[in-house]
Amino acid sequence: MLYIIDTAHLEEIRKCVEIYPVAGVTTNPTIISKENTDFGYLVKTIREIIGPDRMLHIQTTSTTADAIVKEAMELQQFVGGDFYIKIPISPEGLKATRKLKKYGVKVTMTAIFTQQQALISALAGADFVAPYVNRLDNIVSDGIHVVNEIVDQFKNYGVKAKVLAASFKNVEQVHKAALAGCHAVTINPDLFEKLIYHPLTYYAIDDFSKDWESVYGDQKILDLIKEK
Ligand code: G3P
Repeated sequence: MLYIIDTAHLEEIRKCVEIYPVAGVTTNPTIISKENTDFGYLVKTIREIIGPDRMLHIQTTSTTADAIVKEAMELQQFVGGDFYIKIPISPEGLKATRKLKKYGVKVTMTAIFTQQQALISALAGADFVAPYVNRLDNIVSDGIHVVNEIVDQFKNYGVKAKVLAASFKNVEQVHKAALAGCHAVTINPDLFEKLIYHPLTYYAIDDFSKDWESVYGDQKILDLIKEK
């Protein structure tokens, strides 16, 4: 499963790519607006930080097919590298997807809440579909159930599109997306930290240090293997 960062905060992105196996960055207009800065500078700098080989998903702000296509093609030129245009599913979004595939632009169909939205997006040519797990949970639906069924549908019909689940608030949701065979998840940096946290790990590390110091004091391994 691929882990993607769902933020446009430059320092957080820098920190995450140094620590975690980050496959890319996803943004949307809400995430971009939070940074409240020059859009061109922001997306160019994200590309510089993550390099050309990691995915960068940027969402369109247009609503008609022709405008989405134009925006996607120019954005792709502008940011370069492994680029995906995110398009919220709609009739115009699907029309744009079909056109963009002819021009070789990769598409992530987003704001997916149902299995049929996902299947239709995939058959229209989307490379990724992004179901919103926590937002489904919040309306007393079951986000992971929807993800599970989307993954199954894609398997059943030999669909090439991948599932990039989004909108996560806790470790359990991410874990269950992994069990569902989800191809990718996009999560915020705080959740990344929670995924690797366990109190027993910290106790274990503390014990290792105490046991070592009880015999070797403050000497490190390098001090002990130095040629005498
Ligand atoms: O990538 C989509 C995601 O940002 C939506 O997440 O937390 O706003 O539900 P959220």
